[in-house]
Amino acid sequence: MRSMSRVSAGRAEEWQDSEQRELEVDGQSVVVVRYEGEFYALRNQCTHKDVPLLGGEVSDGKITCAKHGGRFELATGRARALPAVKPVLIFKTAVEDGEVFVESL
Ligand code: FES
Repeated sequence: MRSMSRVSAGRAEEWQDSEQRELEVDGQSVVVVRYEGEFYALRNQCTHKDVPLLGGEVSDGKITCAKHGGRFELATGRARALPAVKPVLIFKTAVEDGEVFVESL
């Protein structure tokens, strides 16, 4: 059985809106985004080519891959703009006692 870890992403109040941070969860690089007060976490790898999503523009509930402009919905990981077609894996986020946690779904 795979061991599942739950990783702290720090205090919620220390995040700016639209801030992004990279975390490692179960050996995978994950990009955590605060957007309109909510926390989202996606695998930090575009599904078009092997390029990190970290640092991509966040707007309209989506993160844009800086390489070719593929866009992914933060909440679902669905690809919403070409050339990205396949969804990106998403992770679960939770805020407990003011601390943000990320874990595999
Ligand atoms: S590598 Fe992300 S859209 Fe091409």
